[in-house]
Amino acid sequence: MAAQPTRDDKFSFGLWTVGYNGTDPFGGPTRAPLDVVHVVEKLNELGAYGLTFHDDDLFAFGSTDEERQKQIDRLKGALKDTGLIVPMVTTNLFSPPVFKDGGFTSNDRTVRRYALRKVLRNIDLAAELGAKTFVMWGGREGAEYNASKDIRQALERYREAVNLLADYVTDKGYDIRFAIEPKPNEPRGDILLPTLGHAIAFIDTLEKPELFGVNPEVGHEQMAGLNYSAGIAQALYQGKLFHIDLNGQRGIKYDQDLVFGHGELYDAFALVDLLENGSPQGGPTYDGPRHFDYKPSRTEDETGVWESVAANMRNYLLLKERAAAFRADPEVQEAMQRAKVGELSKPTLNEGETIDDLLADRSAFEDFDANAYFNANGFGFVQLQQLATEHLLGAR
Ligand code: GCO
Ligand code: MN
Ligand code: MN
Repeated sequence: MAAQPTRDDKFSFGLWTVGYNGTDPFGGPTRAPLDVVHVVEKLNELGAYGLTFHDDDLFAFGSTDEERQKQIDRLKGALKDTGLIVPMVTTNLFSPPVFKDGGFTSNDRTVRRYALRKVLRNIDLAAELGAKTFVMWGGREGAEYNASKDIRQALERYREAVNLLADYVTDKGYDIRFAIEPKPNEPRGDILLPTLGHAIAFIDTLEKPELFGVNPEVGHEQMAGLNYSAGIAQALYQGKLFHIDLNGQRGIKYDQDLVFGHGELYDAFALVDLLENGSPQGGPTYDGPRHFDYKPSRTEDETGVWESVAANMRNYLLLKERAAAFRADPEVQEAMQRAKVGELSKPTLNEGETIDDLLADRSAFEDFDANAYFNANGFGFVQLQQLATEHLLGAR
C-alpha cells in the first residue's frame, strides 16, 4: 500500500479548506474556527509541505494594520517551527459585500480601484513569504442577467487589471507568476473565463502572457461537463499549467469540493497518471504543488477534518501507485499498440512531403480501402479501458 506522504510529494492545502466551518446557503457553521498555528502544525504532522491562503483567511477583512501584522507574524513563526512553506497566495475578492458585483470587473469603478489595491498589498505579502504563484479566482466576476454586464468591457477591465499586476511584479523584481482559476458558475450565475480553454485564450491577449497560466480545479471543469484530465493535458501542452486545485465532484451540479478521489474516480486516475507519468508518448509532467482545494463536509467534526486531509493525500498516492502499475503492465503496452496510441505521435505527412506529393499519392486515396473499416480494424479501446479498470480496482 502507498507510502506515507512526505514533503517530496509537495502536498499543499488552503487555509480556507480545513478552515471551512460548514456554512452553506441553507445553514450556518457546524464547526468552530481553526487557528492558523494549529493548522500549520497539523498539516506538518500529516505530511503536507505547504499552506496557501487568501488574505482574509489569515486576518479578518477590515483588520487594523496591527491585527494584520500579528497574524502574519504568528504564521511566520509556525512556518519557521515546522519548515512548512507557502507556495501560493491568493486574494479574497468575493466575500465582502463591496465585491458583490465583482472586483476587477465590477460595474462600479471605485470598487475596481479598491480591488486592485487589495491585490497589490497581498502580492507584497506573497513575495515576502516566498510564494511563487499568485492565484486569481474571479468567483464574483460575472453576472446573473445579460443586460447587467457588458462582457467585452468586463474582459477589457480584467485585462487592464492583470496587465497592471504583471507590471507591478516585474517592476518590483518579484519571482511570482499568476495562475487564473476558471469556474463556470457559482457564486455568480455565469462567471467570466468559465473554463480553462477560455482562460488560456484570454492569456494570449495579455501584454506579458509568459507571466500567466492557469490553476484549474477538478470540480470546476466537471461542473461544465468537461473532461478534467483532457483539459490538463492541453494546459501542459501549452505550457500553462502553473498550479492545480485537486478535489472531487460528482457530475454537473453545485460545486461539491469533495476530497480528491471521492468524485469521478476514472478522471482522477487519468489525471494522476498524466501528472506523474506524462502523456502515453511522454511530454511534460507537472512538478508544482499538489494543492488540495476542497471542503471537509459540514457533517464532520474536527477529527473528520484531519481525516479528510489525510484522505486527499492518501488517495493521490494510491492512484499514483495504480498508475505506475498500469504503465508497467506488458498487457497494457500491448493493448496500447493495438489501439495505435503511439501512432498518433507520427506526423501525418512524411518529412519534406508536400501537399502536391499527398495529392499524387494514390495509396492515400484512390487505392485506399476505406471500406476495410466496416466489420474489421477495431481499435480495442474497450479492452484498454478494462485493463485500466482492473488496475484501478487493484485486480492486477
Ligand atoms: C471554489 C474555488 C475557490 C478558489 C479559492 C481561491 O471552490 O469555488 O475553488 O475555493 O479556489 O477561493 O481563490
Ligand atoms: Mn470548487
Ligand atoms: Mn479552487
